[in-house]
Amino acid sequence: MEFRTDKEFAKEFDKNDPLSHTRELFHMPHTKSGSPYLYFAGHSLGVMPKKAKDYIGEELEDWAEFGVEGHFDARHPWLPYHENLTKMQAHIVGAKESEVVTMNTLTVNLHLMMVSFYRPSKTRYKILIENNTFPSDKYAVDSQAKFHGFDPSDTIVELCPRPGELTVDPEQVLETIDKLGDELALVMLGNCNYLSGQYFDIEAITKKAHEKGALAGFNLAHGAGNLKLDLHKHNVDFAVWCGYKYLNSGPGGLAAAFVHENHAAGDLPRFCGWWGHDKESRFKMGPDFKGIEGAQGWQLSNPPIFQLASLRSSLEIFYENTMDRIVEKGHQITNYMEYLFESKLADKAQVISPSGSRGSMLCLRFKNNPKKLLEVFKDENVICDFREPDILRMTPAPLYNTYSEVHKLVEIIEEHTS
Ligand SMILES: Cc1ncc(COP(=O)(O)O)c(C=O)c1O
Repeated sequence: MEFRTDKEFAKEFDKNDPLSHTRELFHMPHTKSGSPYLYFAGHSLGVMPKKAKDYIGEELEDWAEFGVEGHFDARHPWLPYHENLTKMQAHIVGAKESEVVTMNTLTVNLHLMMVSFYRPSKTRYKILIENNTFPSDKYAVDSQAKFHGFDPSDTIVELCPRPGELTVDPEQVLETIDKLGDELALVMLGNCNYLSGQYFDIEAITKKAHEKGALAGFNLAHGAGNLKLDLHKHNVDFAVWCGYKYLNSGPGGLAAAFVHENHAAGDLPRFCGWWGHDKESRFKMGPDFKGIEGAQGWQLSNPPIFQLASLRSSLEIFYENTMDRIVEKGHQITNYMEYLFESKLADKAQVISPSGSRGSMLCLRFKNNPKKLLEVFKDENVICDFREPDILRMTPAPLYNTYSEVHKLVEIIEEHTS
């Protein structure tokens, strides 16, 4: 695709954008005085689908009307409410419906999955992660290692970019798995990596991990709703993702988990709760746990209906517009952003996110005083985010950002870094 740097080019692209209608389905944030933000923080908190208020409102009305009977009599009965989201979550990550469940929050799900999938022995106990992993993921793997009596410094192996390189070479991931061999219990990678936007080849990594007798799980906080995923086909053992970034479920929104059907009928150890118990006998209130077959068997508690309602309003947009189309625009608009940065700012900032293996996020490292830009962003009503010491992260979200907004953002940055 040939891009141009002029403003008219962006306008033309917006006019021909097959997803231009979806922006109208969201409330675009603005300042207290009503000026619109240039909002590029979909990797942090997605914007609000307009239908979220109606969907949550319906549940509030039904609660007022029916009280506890809403579990059966609500327009969308609460007892099976989470199942309204299953088909759409399966679409997002490329799974069978029995393999996904919406529940809890992300770090909670990561721990629940590791309870089942990190089963170290004296000799096979290592966990492979990225070196600049999100802190909560690092705390989770460290604490799991300690929980099993291992020293995290010997247990957690971090993938570091080679000297002089910004991101990890894909070959290096496979070589590291090979090298760890019989000592490797679990590969647990963030896909995409939250700081560089780099994604890894899930299929090749999972295959290699399995060849070595290890399991492979992925944290898709920055992948779900952003990348084309095929978790079932790629034999991934488990995955977790949150709903409030690309999936626009709202602050602190619900997360989800994937458990491959290969593990559905097995008797993997797990932490249990009544919502994971066989549906037919759940309300017989017996003392012995009998898990639902598939991912739903990992549920602990009855889920928060208002949070499910807001997530449902967003997942419907993904489902109706399909991940294929969303990812296609995501690539194009991010490529366009990269092109503009490289055309206008190559001497002042370096794009860290690798072109061939990233989703809709660009991470830039500025050479001089990137914090100065934060003041500029405040004045110009730009929302993107900064990670210490020098990384700026920007997401052109395909469902609601426009090419003209990207053009304007780069123009503002260019003007204030010259
Ligand atoms: C990669 C990654 N892991 C974990 C978390 C923590 O998520 P939560 O607070 O939902 O547990 C985040 C949140 O931004 C994240 O980006």
